[in-house]
Formats: sequence, structure tokens, C-alpha cells
Amino acid sequence: MKVQIVSDKQAGGQAGFRVFEDALQNGAKVLGLATGSTPVTIYEQLAASDLDFSQLTSVNLDEYVGLNADHPQSYHYFMQEHLFNAKPFAHSYVPDGADLDAAKATSEYDQIIAENPIDLQLLGLGKNGHIGFNEPGTDPDSTTHKVMLTDSTIDANARFFDNADEVPRYAYSMGIGSILKAKQILIVAYGEAKAAAVAAMIQGPVTPDVPASYLQTHPNVTVILDEAAASQLD
Ligand code: F6R
Repeated sequence: MKVQIVSDKQAGGQAGFRVFEDALQNGAKVLGLATGSTPVTIYEQLAASDLDFSQLTSVNLDEYVGLNADHPQSYHYFMQEHLFNAKPFAHSYVPDGADLDAAKATSEYDQIIAENPIDLQLLGLGKNGHIGFNEPGTDPDSTTHKVMLTDSTIDANARFFDNADEVPRYAYSMGIGSILKAKQILIVAYGEAKAAAVAAMIQGPVTPDVPASYLQTHPNVTVILDEAAASQLD
């Protein structure tokens, strides 16, 4: 794993932007994207750049089950707001949260990933070491699957909804196996709250207790951290 430490989220946005720029220069055609607060500064840089995505494909990590693409808390909507309005791709795929037939929705998404092998996958890191919605205990060979959200994730997300009952209980997520198939992975983490997960991801044993630790088995991973997130590394 190549670890790069930056001063803050803005510098992380620039460093992440350069990883995307290099990948595009090296011929990347399919970009794997994430939502959440971490990628926002990278998307700001990409949106403001003169990079052209109009011939490229994007494939997102995950989506809530039960939210339509036009729901303001859907990950579809997030991507539209933060990147796609400014930089349309030829094709952008996000799991179809409106499709309540999980077997169909997840197998269709696996088919999309198989037809569009990901050149560069961007990831954020959960405080408990999750990547995508792959919580501790997820099978490392997992493909796209339906996930029951943990109480802590539901609580963390409740602030975005009018009341806690509206927070989706399930999501569709690419699996750890799907993520590890990407040719290159960029994972980014900021802040003290991520420090323990960062240390476990990079220096701990490879274990289902820390889904991000499986990234140690991938040959091309770049990690961008601020100093607080790097503070528990030896
Ligand atoms: C987002 C995703 C999640 C987040 C992670 C970190 O698509 O799959 O794994 O990357 O929960 O979230 P933030 O960036 O909000 O701290």
C-alpha cells in the first residue's frame, strides 16, 4: 500500500485528483465511485477540472434500498449533485435502490461490473473498517449483495432524514470480492475517528473483523490520509 499523508481535506482533494488524472492518462475507462463526506473534495477538484469524462463509465459502490434515484438522500442524487451535473459520463451506474427484488438487482449489478471492469476504485473508510456497506464479518469473496444496515449506521444517517423511521434499513453494496477486482484502488480517510480503522487496515492482520484489511492483498492500493487519521500508525 502506498500511503500519502496530507495536511487537510483540501490537500487530500488535490492528491486524490492527481491519482484520477494519472489513471486517465494511463487509459482508465471505468471509474468506481463512492459517496459520503470523504470524496467530496476530490469531486470538487474533478468537477472544476478540464478532464473529460464523456467517453468514460462510472460504477458506484452502493445505494439504499427503497429510495428512488431522485430522492435527495439517495446515492444517485448525491453523485448527480457532486459530480455528474458538472461532468457527465457516457454511462453512470449506481445500484437500483428502487428495485425491491434483491436477487435481480444484485445480479444485474454484478453483470454491469463484469461488463465494465473497474480501472480505479475510490473508497472511503468506515470507523469500524467497513468499505462500501461491507460491515465486519462480510465474506471477502462477496459480490453485490443486500445488506442490513447496522443500528450505528442508521443512527448516523438519521440526521439527513425528517425522522429516524424514514432512514432505509437496507442497502445494495458491491462486495469485497467485487472491490478487490478493480485494477487500482484509492482509499481516503480523514480525522481522528478513523485512526484506529486506518491502523488496522494497514498494519493489522487481514481479517473479516476489519473489511478494509483485505486491501492488503491487493497489488495497487493508494491510501490518502490526513495527520489525524494517520495518528495510530507505527
Ligand atoms: C460510501 C460508502 C461508505 C463510506 C464510509 C465513509 O459510498 O460506501 O463505505 O465511504 O462510510 O463515510 P464518510 O466518507 O462519510 O466518512
